[in-house]
Amino acid sequence: MTDSQNIHRVAVVTGASSGIGAATARALHADGYRVALLARRRDRIESIAAELGDGAIAIQADVTDRDAIVTAAQRVQDELGVTDVLVNNAGTMLLGPFSSEQRNDYRSMIEVNLLGAITATEVFLDQIKDGGGDLINISSVAGRTARASNGVYAATKWGMNGWSESLRQELLPDVRVTLIEPGVVDTELPTHITHEPTRQAVQQGYDVASVKPEEVAEVISFALGRPRHLVLNEILLRPATQLG
Ligand SMILES: NC(=O)c1ccc[n+]([C@@H]2O[C@H](COP(=O)([O-])OP(=O)(O)OC[C@H]3O[C@@H](n4cnc5c(N)ncnc54)[C@H](OP(=O)(O)O)[C@@H]3O)[C@@H](O)[C@H]2O)c1
Repeated sequence: MTDSQNIHRVAVVTGASSGIGAATARALHADGYRVALLARRRDRIESIAAELGDGAIAIQADVTDRDAIVTAAQRVQDELGVTDVLVNNAGTMLLGPFSSEQRNDYRSMIEVNLLGAITATEVFLDQIKDGGGDLINISSVAGRTARASNGVYAATKWGMNGWSESLRQELLPDVRVTLIEPGVVDTELPTHITHEPTRQAVQQGYDVASVKPEEVAEVISFALGRPRHLVLNEILLRPATQLG
């Protein structure tokens, strides 16, 4: 789709304060979308929205707080127009050996990665359906594989994959559902890991990550740009060096 065709389209990106979300907000704005950046870190999203200028707004919102998402949806409609695209990107990856010590991490990942996406979708769905829209769900290679020490993170992403497949069948033709499953991408994601030995080990892999968030954003932009009779249902992308 050309910039001029997107000019009246509105995209909402959750977790837009860093990494893949920030890159996606920038890419969609460059494609001509009006963009709402949602995240908890207000300074980050305000700075990106200011950098983008016209047609970009920052809305502080925690995806675990339904009232905040409802308020955000109303602000988007009032300030930008009806939402056409929702990118469910907000997520955390709190890896570590399975143990009671990490039980708060498990609850938090399920509430943000899975329930947060479900909440944002049910809140924005009426807007997205209005006129034909798109739902982009950011899953992971961990939505198709699992390994020691990533069980609950993988459970949230496997959950997202199953839920997305159901929605795909239920919402067509009004809404296209696209699942994005990245491998290692150079972002802040591992910095939040609370189990210190795991954080250090995972960080080593991220220190040499070759795939940049802008490359994932480019793929999302491409998927959205296909004519509406064509849907890229599922896109699995890994660094060339990543085997599993
Ligand atoms: N990087 C990778 O290797 C990789 C691979 C596969 C999948 N992914 C997925 O890609 C998505 C984005 O991650 P990233 O790699 O770009 O990491 P990131 O830079 O850490 O970005 C995560 C984003 O999620 C937001 N977030 C976290 N908790 C939130 C909450 N409760 N409410 C609202 N926003 C929240 C963060 O914003 P605030 O802290 O400001 O709220 C931040 O903008 C995640 O779903 C992740 O699972 C990443």
